Amino acid sequence: MSEPTRWTAPKITALKGREKIVSLTAYDFSMARMVDEAGIQLVLVGDSLGMTMLGYENTLPVTLEQMLHHTAAVARGAKHALVVTDLPFLTYQVSVEQALANAGRCIKEAGAGAVKVEGGAFRAPTIRALVENGIPVLGHIGLTPQSIRAMGGYKVQGRKSDEADHLLADARAVAEAGAFAIVLEAMPSELASAITAAVSVPTIGIGAGPHCDGQILVLHDILGLYGEFKPKFVKRYANFGPEVRSALEQYRKEVSDGSFPGPEQSY
Ligand code: KIV
Repeated sequence: MSEPTRWTAPKITALKGREKIVSLTAYDFSMARMVDEAGIQLVLVGDSLGMTMLGYENTLPVTLEQMLHHTAAVARGAKHALVVTDLPFLTYQVSVEQALANAGRCIKEAGAGAVKVEGGAFRAPTIRALVENGIPVLGHIGLTPQSIRAMGGYKVQGRKSDEADHLLADARAVAEAGAFAIVLEAMPSELASAITAAVSVPTIGIGAGPHCDGQILVLHDILGLYGEFKPKFVKRYANFGPEVRSALEQYRKEVSDGSFPGPEQSY
């Protein structure tokens, strides 16, 4: 049987200027399969799983073992999409050697096709080392959630002109270091547009307006499965939270009153 066509990092890079890149997070086998079947080209096993799947307040406590566990499940479900694993906080910042060893585990043990790391120019040596050793890297600049303590919270970045210049330099450095694409998170559309024009690799926006080469969102946000709060940049394509709750209540009621299982569910 022939292998299904698989999106790779170079194929994603080649989409710049030709076709918008569609990406979404997924954290488990069943959802990854549906995301893949919808034709989404890049599926990110985001460290946002710390919140959506594990109930932490932010992404900081997420471990590499948790990322490997979820990535392996997603890789089994996504047959065509490029599977990218987010390297979690303090699994790549300590040294280039640490980054290489941990990114290598995502590829070797979990079946990822690439890793994502947060950070701008200061992260370039790490990105270069990963890429030179055969590990494709998705960059991530702007609001980088692993730095919320330093940023003082989830804030739009690059509103002031010196900050915007800084982010533009960061994007150039990340692209020159060999990232195959760059996530731009929470920044003015105009700045994202300038960055998109300035770098040769695709930009994938989240809260960065319509001029990026592609878009990414968190699966649970677009399906209405994670809390009531909806950030401005999220569009809900479904609101399954209330439906799931009412299905579960119905199940509880039917078991309690004896109407489930009925004859059609019984042998
Ligand atoms: O962890 C995450 O989900 C991300 C986003 C870019 C969607 O990093």
